[in-house]
Amino acid sequence: MEINPIFKIFESFPRQGPGDDEHTEKAFSIIAEPPEGGGEILDVGCGKGVQTMALARLCPSCRILATDIHQPFLDAVDEKIAAGGFSGRIKTVCASMDDLPFGEESFDIIWAEGCSFIMGFENAVRYWKKFLKPGGYMMISDLFWFTESPSAEAREFFAEIDPTIMIEEKGLEIIRNAGLEPVGSFRLPSRVWEESYYGIVKGKFGDLMEEFQDNEAALMIIEGLKKQIEIFDKYSDEFGYTYNVMRKPL
Ligand SMILES: C[S@@+](CC[C@H](N)C(=O)[O-])C[C@H]1O[C@@H](n2cnc3c(N)ncnc32)[C@H](O)[C@@H]1O
Repeated sequence: MEINPIFKIFESFPRQGPGDDEHTEKAFSIIAEPPEGGGEILDVGCGKGVQTMALARLCPSCRILATDIHQPFLDAVDEKIAAGGFSGRIKTVCASMDDLPFGEESFDIIWAEGCSFIMGFENAVRYWKKFLKPGGYMMISDLFWFTESPSAEAREFFAEIDPTIMIEEKGLEIIRNAGLEPVGSFRLPSRVWEESYYGIVKGKFGDLMEEFQDNEAALMIIEGLKKQIEIFDKYSDEFGYTYNVMRKPL
């Protein structure tokens, strides 16, 4: 089976989306009572596992299941696990985020950086919450509008690439309607997009164009990334990543 070129392109980046350890830590610190004596964390859509390793350092007693649909990303996580000496408490599982092979109420914390858009924020909140233990926490960071009236060009762009993007208040409403309690949220500063992600992506465009010169689908994805960066540079005050921490009642 031919692999979607989007995965091959994203394999060349250290992270597969914007974010950094500082903001993983900030979101983790919102969790009032990280599980003592060993808790279970599920890291959904973990990519190459940058936030997985940050979580392992933030909660030295936790066990982590890192999941993604693309095995080569998980192979990269496995290498980090071995290099960091985390083999006893981090495992990788290749699974689709909308069909997770875990029992209900298995996890103290569910973590999802920059991936809920794949199934839609609302579907993700509603589906993943059943895997949380009562009293457990879920953290989802993803794209939200910061304004009720975004510019036409930004709206048109997202209508094509992520039609589920919504205003932050709507996200909070979805959390409450799913029976979860919003505990805290914050926005990822736009400088982190540049430092952790777009700056690196820009530096790879030349090599990627050469590597995929005969692959029309890949070239379209690369053009899409260029457009994404252009839109972000123009309208980063209108949209961005919001980290939402929520809790399942006891
Ligand atoms: C934007 S990246 C975010 C990765 C990582 N959390 C980060 O912040 O660097 C989205 C991730 O979701 C994964 N993914 C895509 N479709 C998926 C699916 N159906 N189930 C699980 N993971 C999926 C991709 O392979 C990718 O690693």
